This record gives sequence, C-alpha cells and structure tokens, in this order.
Amino acid sequence: MGATAVIGLQWGDEGKGRIVDLLAQRCDGVVRYNGGPNAGHTLVVDSEVFKLHLIPSGILYNDKFNIIGNGVIVDPGTLIEEIDGLKERNFFNGRLFISDRSPLLFPYHRLMDELEESIRGNFSLGTTKRGVGPGYTDEINRSGLRMIDLISDDFEEKLRMVWSLKIKLCPALDGKLDIEDVIRTYREYSIILKPYVTDTVMLLHRLLSEDMDLLFEGAQGFLLDVNFGTYPYVSSSESSISGIFSGSGISPKQLRKVYGVAKSYMTRVGSGPFPTELKGSSGEYLREKGKEYGTTTGRPRRCGWLDGVATRFSCQINGIDGIYLTKLDVLGGLEEVNICVGYIYEGERLDYFPASSEILSRCEPIYERLPGWKMDSRELPKNAIAFIKFVEDFLDTKVLGVSIGPERDSFIDLC
Ligand code: IMP
Repeated sequence: MGATAVIGLQWGDEGKGRIVDLLAQRCDGVVRYNGGPNAGHTLVVDSEVFKLHLIPSGILYNDKFNIIGNGVIVDPGTLIEEIDGLKERNFFNGRLFISDRSPLLFPYHRLMDELEESIRGNFSLGTTKRGVGPGYTDEINRSGLRMIDLISDDFEEKLRMVWSLKIKLCPALDGKLDIEDVIRTYREYSIILKPYVTDTVMLLHRLLSEDMDLLFEGAQGFLLDVNFGTYPYVSSSESSISGIFSGSGISPKQLRKVYGVAKSYMTRVGSGPFPTELKGSSGEYLREKGKEYGTTTGRPRRCGWLDGVATRFSCQINGIDGIYLTKLDVLGGLEEVNICVGYIYEGERLDYFPASSEILSRCEPIYERLPGWKMDSRELPKNAIAFIKFVEDFLDTKVLGVSIGPERDSFIDLC
C-alpha cells in the first residue's frame, strides 16, 4: 500500500474516522496532516465511543504509529487532555509522534476567534471557536510559534515578543489574559509533550522506505478547504489532497491511492451555502436518525440531500480512486431519496460547482428522484443498490464499501 489517503468529500463529518479505523487494520500507522482541535472524529469500538480531535485514529490499535504532521495546528491543552483520556481507558498505545514543525495554538487565538466572529455579525462564519483561523493566520504571518519553540529554552522570550506584537496590533486583547499564567501553563505542557515531539518528516520517509503502509487521515472535508471550498465559509487549512504534501512532507510520488468518504446525504455545521439543505421535518428526520450533532461543539448539523455536483467536484480535484459511502442506513425508511445532479441559477442550468458562495447560495438544486428502501438486515435492498449505482455513475468513481451503522462491523465491502 505505501502511502494511502482518506479524504472527506463534503463539509466534514462524513464518517472518515470509521473508514480510517477500518483501513488502519491493514496499515502500520495513521498520519494527520491538517486541521486542529476543530476536527472531531467519532469511533465506536466494542460499543465504546471515542471522540478524537488531534490524535490519529490508529491510537486505538496497540501496534500502530500515530503521527501528527506539521500541517496540524496543535492546542497543547486539548492534546494532553486527549492523551490522558485515552490512558485512563487503557487505549493509549504510546506510539504518538508530534511534528516539531507543528504550529501552536494559544489562548489568545481563541479570544481572537470569538472577537472576530462577534464583529462579523450577520456575516459570521460559524467557526468552532477553537482559535484555528487566527492560529494559522499567525503561522502564515510568521508570528506563530511551533512545537520546536515550545520545547526550546527561548520559548518564553519568543512568546513575550509575540504577545507584545498582538496587543499592539489588537488592543482589544489587552487585559483579556494573563501572559504570565500562559507561560507557566505552557512550560508544564512542554514537559509533558517533549517525549512525543520529533522530526516527523524524517520519520515518515524512514517508515515509507522500510515499506511500511501509512494511512493519511484528512480532517474536515474538501468543501471546507481554504482554496477550493465555499470561501469564506471554510476552515483555514488545506483539506484537499495538496494538504497531505504541505502538511506532512511526503512527496506526491509516494502517494499510491486516494480514497474519498462521502455521506449518503449532506451535512454542514456553521454558516455558508448549502443548496440541498432540508429545513423542515425531512431535515429534522435526518438529524435525529443520523445523530447529526457536532463532535467538537455539539451544535446541530444542517442536513440535506446528497449533492452530486459538489461531491463530483471533490472527486475530480482530489483524484479519487474510489469512495466509501457512509450512513446508508439513515436513508432507509424514506419513500423517496433525492440526489442533486445540477443547479438552476438565474434561470440557467449549472453543471459545475461555482466559485462564488453568493452564486451557490442562490442555486436551486435539480434532483434525480429514486425510490426509497427499508433497511432491516445486512442485506442491501434492491433500491439501495440502485442508489449506489447511480452515485457511482454520476461521480464516475467506484463505491468500494458502505457503512450501515456506527459499529466496526456495520460495514459492507463492495470491492
Ligand atoms: P473553524 O475551522 O473553527 O475556523 O470553522 C470554520 C468552518 O469550518 C465552520 O463552519 C465550522 O463549523 C467548520 N468546521 C471546522 N472543523 C470542522 C469539522 O471537523 N467538521 C465539520 N465542520 C468543521
């Protein structure tokens, strides 16, 4: 296998965690390369539920490498909480490696996230308020600190410099937090995390040269990608295939396969256009049946029909070799199931995903209506098979497997 990627094709929460968990069985390690504590991966093992934000899903196996690449923005407090939580439940395998190049989040990033959201008012993005946007902005602006800084002797001096910069440029932050407190807390974090910090680029290249199989686990979904997503209603990292290279340091030539994960319907948390959104009781039905509440924030997710146009765009840009379709069971019991196959914008048909969020928000979906099915066993009903076939043809991508429940064994392999 070498390097294999799993990418979410929609607005996140496609169920990547469970597909990674499944594929991880055949791998030597799992790598995260983008996002940060805004991400939430839910996994169910032997009826035990695990919610991971920063630690790769391979941690639940006792022999896998778990690598947090340089593209992941790390909130050290959240990471330590996650390590402790897994240790308490005897699910921490100790094989955790954090990139020395990973950018760090500080409490002022959360404050800035909240401040920016409140100033935006009606234009707010609906962020997770974990400080991810301001944190990545600092990195690009070269006023961020990295994991290597945290474990170095001059950390305090660098943080004081950055803080003085912050309060000069953003006076609203002044008096909002005690920097001495932050320094003390981060010194403690540094002692706890130091044993896990390493040059993960070297590690990844070594593992791949030893013929190890590594799974690259994307966070968020392609439609939240900062370059190609529904800008500005996106997250601040690259959730596309290119994020793998900039966020881990492997080369495109080392990536063998790219698998996509799509939910059988669409969900979205936060603001932004969503042409197939169902606002009434149908949306409520999907939300309740699919338990569509954010893993990180608990917010109810907006729900709607599968948007074939948006999902096809994701397949094209990411060079998807095959997809996993999740939560097929949630659609079971409906009379009819819809898939969006085009949009109507100002009376004209659009067959592509427009760059402008304003245009997308005014698009009316064109639906293909398919008969529904009842799902009461592991056997796929005829109409469910027809739905899968339609998706395959429309996306021009093979459906490799479908999930029909949250447990590890509620999965049907179609390869
Ligand atoms: P941020 O990443 O917290 O800045 O939020 C920006 C947008 O991305 C908001 O609409 C969030 O709801 C969304 N978002 C961020 N992370 C995730 C995720 O893991 N799943 C789903 N949506 C996410």
